Amino acid sequence: MTSTFTIAIDGPAGAGKGTLARRLADHYRLNLLDTGLTYRAVAYALIQHALPLDNVSAAETAARQVDLAKLDRAVLSAHAVGEAASKVAVFPTVRRILVEKQRAFAMTPPGAVLDGRDIGTVVCPDADIKLYVTASAEVRAKRRLAEIESIGGTANFTEILADIVRRDERDMGRADSPLKPAADAHLLDTSEMAIEAAFLAAMAIIDEVMAKRNKA
Ligand code: C5P
Repeated sequence: MTSTFTIAIDGPAGAGKGTLARRLADHYRLNLLDTGLTYRAVAYALIQHALPLDNVSAAETAARQVDLAKLDRAVLSAHAVGEAASKVAVFPTVRRILVEKQRAFAMTPPGAVLDGRDIGTVVCPDADIKLYVTASAEVRAKRRLAEIESIGGTANFTEILADIVRRDERDMGRADSPLKPAADAHLLDTSEMAIEAAFLAAMAIIDEVMAKRNKA
């Protein structure tokens, strides 16, 4: 049997888990999957066909058609798509279809870093490492605003903050696979921490687990 190494990263929107996941995948030479893109792809397909976001059977069809190798971040990263994704993400049947694809990805050697909301709790409950990355809603809103402004856009801080709070409520409050830290997750609060410091903290945790595993 070929063994794989899995790093599960969960947390709310804008906590910095995407950047951290990319850095860790590069460093440990693992595959990388931003599972948010899979929910975004479903929402985007419905929007493209002018279908309502509560059309469950259309969402299931779109979920079956999601090809992990063809997720287009540039198209899917729009703010409105993220908002729509959190609406289709409440449907258990849609989640089951996407989770199956995400698990198959995780099991492909040499293993993967997956980031999302339910990786440590549902998708990869046996992950070698589980990180829960969080930051205050204000800090996340400030980062989002800076990101938008850095690419020449404009946005209103109060509106961004309200969006973040609403998305947190939807993701943490849904019945199926709500966002919460797994019991055995390492918590990383990035409110006062630069992403580089979060990366170093994560590396220390991972290196320790890897060293133990190599000794066993
Ligand atoms: O992480 P991102 O902002 O791209 O995720 C968009 C939405 O997709 C989230 O707000 C959440 O509702 C949903 N999602 C999820 N489970 C995941 C990843 C994302 O429910 N593993």
